Amino acid sequence: MSYWFDHESQKILKKLITSKRRTWLVTGVAGFIGSNIAESLLHLGQKVIGFDNFSTGHPRNIEDIVAKTAAADGAFTFLEGDIRDRDACADIMDGVEIVLHQAALGSVPRSIEDPRTSHDVNVTGFINILDEARRRNVENFVYAASSSTYGDEPNLPKIEERIGRPLSPYAGTKLFDEIYAEIFSRTYGFGSIGLRYFNVFGPRQDPNGAYAAVIPKWTDRIIANKPVTINGDGLTSRDFCFIDNAVQANLRAGIAQNKKQSEVFNVAVGEQTSLNELFALIKERLALHQCYYDKDAMYAEFRRGDVRHSLASIDRAAALLGYHPTHTIGEGIGVAIPWYLAQTVKA
Ligand SMILES: NC(=O)c1ccc[n+]([C@@H]2O[C@H](COP(=O)([O-])OP(=O)(O)OC[C@H]3O[C@@H](n4cnc5c(N)ncnc54)[C@H](O)[C@@H]3O)[C@@H](O)[C@H]2O)c1
Repeated sequence: MSYWFDHESQKILKKLITSKRRTWLVTGVAGFIGSNIAESLLHLGQKVIGFDNFSTGHPRNIEDIVAKTAAADGAFTFLEGDIRDRDACADIMDGVEIVLHQAALGSVPRSIEDPRTSHDVNVTGFINILDEARRRNVENFVYAASSSTYGDEPNLPKIEERIGRPLSPYAGTKLFDEIYAEIFSRTYGFGSIGLRYFNVFGPRQDPNGAYAAVIPKWTDRIIANKPVTINGDGLTSRDFCFIDNAVQANLRAGIAQNKKQSEVFNVAVGEQTSLNELFALIKERLALHQCYYDKDAMYAEFRRGDVRHSLASIDRAAALLGYHPTHTIGEGIGVAIPWYLAQTVKA
């Protein structure tokens, strides 16, 4: 298997990371993004402490990391626990040099159903990790921010300096995280980097459950020849970002020279795809694997709290982090689809 860090444009980053063995804390490591970050770090010879409470993540992702990497040599430690538990957050920080904080409850609809739990995990849990990292004066603190922070800001592409009002409790929690990160920089001189992810997708993203993201959910349903529902008129658009791009952004941010500032960066591709186009793309790519689907999509109500259009400028991340996406949406779907097909064979 070839990894994003073997891509020609990423050779220098690979050298920078492998030149020193650091200890990274990855929270949310049993989830989609966290498990992919941990796997890349272990392939690059790093030490990883992973933390998760399995609320939306899976033990199978931890098993997969261990199976695919040299984790057996003691490079990987997994600790089960909850970021809402302050003592647990203190316990996991021993020896940590870089924090990549991914643990949170994702999903706009989930946060509308239960705003308090989203707040407890995404804001209280966030400040627990942030404050413990500050006390230990870790080298770099990187956290999962979100494109939902742009809220009702109408202009495209989205640039980091210009945000609107949040449209959901989830977006509010992610905005609070950015506010705390900035306060910690001003008050304590503790710097951080927030990565505003734009619809990340790829292997290990969970297709199941009420709050599944659109690409895994539709792929799974099309493979099973079940009907697909599009919320709204299908013209809603997103900047879909393949997982390898998000992992790259995390590693670049993790070793960035950023001692005192709080910064935020868009992590995306800079390509806009409507939901109708996405549906057609998934069907077309599945057909290349002899998985044919002849149903039309069904259309339902727009979802509450959803942003209508999303497209990122990635200029800032390119200029200051050296971030260059290695995969477009089409290339990413080309990698994700065989993975989803393999899961259905296993099931
Ligand atoms: N996937 C996306 O498109 C996207 C977009 C924007 C932001 N994000 C953010 O990226 C991060 C990772 O998202 P993901 O897509 O991998 O989701 P995920 O649900 O697959 O992973 C989140 C992980 O955090 C863990 N977790 C949740 N609550 C916890 C708690 N209280 N204590 C310890 N662990 C806990 C879960 O068990 C899970 O393993 C989240 O912060 C999310 O808000 C994701």
